Amino acid sequence: MTKKIAVLIGSLRKESLTRKYAHAIAAVLPPSLPCEFVELGDLPLYNQDLDDAGTPPAAWTAFRDTLRAADGVLFVTPEYNRSIPGALKNAIDVGSRPWGHSIWNRKPSAVVSQSPGAIGGFGANHHVRQTMVALNSPVMAGPEMYIGGAAKLLADDGTVNNDQTKELLASFGAAYERWVQANVKPA
Ligand code: FNR
Repeated sequence: MTKKIAVLIGSLRKESLTRKYAHAIAAVLPPSLPCEFVELGDLPLYNQDLDDAGTPPAAWTAFRDTLRAADGVLFVTPEYNRSIPGALKNAIDVGSRPWGHSIWNRKPSAVVSQSPGAIGGFGANHHVRQTMVALNSPVMAGPEMYIGGAAKLLADDGTVNNDQTKELLASFGAAYERWVQANVKPA
């Protein structure tokens, strides 16, 4: 059965490596998992006063509606100072509220991190995992995806040029398909 996947990218940069990997992963997912890239850059910072007043910004409402309609979510992120980039954490926070209406509850997720450095964004990856577990999202345990030396694995056109990375992406995509189908929230 077709399951819609929302792809959230933790970098706002035009030439983002993360975005290139997000496209590479979307390309290896089966047709049963159509992907929608959800932009995070225009989400105002979370402020509970606006929810309490019943005046959430339109961008929060649109984001929540889009994520509510998705069957799964795929996080692809760089690491900022060994943690989650603020734009991505803000999006997670916006989706988690108002209290009792979190759009993450029981939404199957998976996390990919990348870095030009050697550690592959391990810290960011695990901080996303920690947050999503707290939000009761079934987070796929493995295969883990920490893409180190990420700039060197891409060709000029932004596609992955390394066979081992391509194989890892393919096995990650296949595992995520099984994960979503097994954990999708009942209607
Ligand atoms: C970084 N970068 C970085 N890299 C890393 O491996 N660990 C880290 O903790 C950090 N910290 C960090 C903080 C901030 C504020 C910036 C802007 C960058 C480098 C980062 O991995 C690199 O710029 C990536 O290319 C960012 O991903 P995009 O924008 O190319 O998708």
